[in-house]
Amino acid sequence: MKILIVGSGGREHAIAWKIAQSPKADKIYCAPGNAGIGEYAECVPIGAMEFEKLAAFAKEKEIDLTVVGMDDPLVGGIVDVFESQGLRIFGPRKNAAILEGSKAFSKDLMKKYNIPTAAYENFDDPEKALAYLETAQFPIVLKADGLALGKGVLICNTLEEAKDGVREIMLDKHFGAAGNRMVIEEFMTGREVSVLSFVDGKTIKCMTSAQDHKRALDGDQGLNTGGMGTFSPSPFYTPEIDEFCQKHIYQPTVDAMAAEGRPFKGVIFFGLMLTEKGPKVLEYNARFGDPEAQVVLPRMKNDIVDVFEACIDGTLDQIDLQFEDNAAVCVVLASGGYPVSYEKGFPIEGLENLKGKEGVYVFHAGTKLENGRFVTNGGRVLGVTATGPDLKTARANAYKAVKQVTFEKAYCRSDIGKAIDEA
Ligand code: AMP
Ligand code: GLY
Repeated sequence: MKILIVGSGGREHAIAWKIAQSPKADKIYCAPGNAGIGEYAECVPIGAMEFEKLAAFAKEKEIDLTVVGMDDPLVGGIVDVFESQGLRIFGPRKNAAILEGSKAFSKDLMKKYNIPTAAYENFDDPEKALAYLETAQFPIVLKADGLALGKGVLICNTLEEAKDGVREIMLDKHFGAAGNRMVIEEFMTGREVSVLSFVDGKTIKCMTSAQDHKRALDGDQGLNTGGMGTFSPSPFYTPEIDEFCQKHIYQPTVDAMAAEGRPFKGVIFFGLMLTEKGPKVLEYNARFGDPEAQVVLPRMKNDIVDVFEACIDGTLDQIDLQFEDNAAVCVVLASGGYPVSYEKGFPIEGLENLKGKEGVYVFHAGTKLENGRFVTNGGRVLGVTATGPDLKTARANAYKAVKQVTFEKAYCRSDIGKAIDEA
């Protein structure tokens, strides 16, 4: 088969690596890809939002399957464009990707179908949002409705902060059109867990759990980022919690989308908060997590091409999804200054130390090749994943590996996976 991947981050590198394990994959392309992905795929310089160009490319190269890694093209309707031209593609249509594309939609869906989530109100009028805050309890959470690069969530401790937040989102449009509407919701406390799942419109099969570290600095300090590291599985996600979520969150979400005439095919990523009152949904994403994919996919036993095809064909019930009984930790090596401002173009040293090392995977995010050398080309540069028989060993292996790679102003958190010591 000829397979095209759409995207350019560490997640897409992990997807490309996993697809490359499949005996079915004869040729892999990635648009636009990055320097690391080039090891498994031919990278083509077409942007992820250039749907017509991508579809023309898929026709010209007789691509059998396209896999979309990123949220923007999914929410923008890439799947509809491909399907209308008779092309096979893995991912939700536009009317289902709204599960991630509009937080107001997803909150209303959860309310209508009794799926546990934080109490909330939606607003499209800033004056009404400001008035609502006068009687609210603090801290409180403000969310821009649309996609905002993972940055559209503000946790506000005081009325003044929250009023400023509403103005930033709805009047100053800090997150652009994503802030035309907003959600104001109850602040929840607990541990966060990411559960990714494959969905074929009616059947859902969950992958192993993971936990992200969204803040830039150790001890969960600093600004929110795209994710500074992950571990899998989460020791806090017990079989009892899984049973509850299967019954009250996962299947009900899939059924709700089907009942709304928006059958979901692709990956649903459940961002959960394990609260004292049970698990609740923080957010839905309509794609693999980044860097969750970098710890989940190395543990997956199945041929991922079979799973993609089963989702498209509606035969996921026939797939026995299996994961290794081990653990994985991914440490992201970022450019100093990320997520605010940082320099690019520094040579990356030491990659050869990790090449071919068993149980170690270097997934590139922001890199490019310059005169035959890998150089930094983004905020998150690399994700170094290591596996091990248990989480502590995997964590030790990941930190041992990440120390062998360096570039000017390289930065990583030193406490990825520290939470497992409390399990
Ligand atoms: P989201 O993009 O919706 O996942 O939000 C980003 C991060 O904000 C989450 O990973 C949580 O850490 C935090 N967050 C979002 N909603 C809430 C909430 N209702 N209560 C507490 N923290 C939240
Ligand atoms: N790691 C969080 C996300 O992919 O949204």
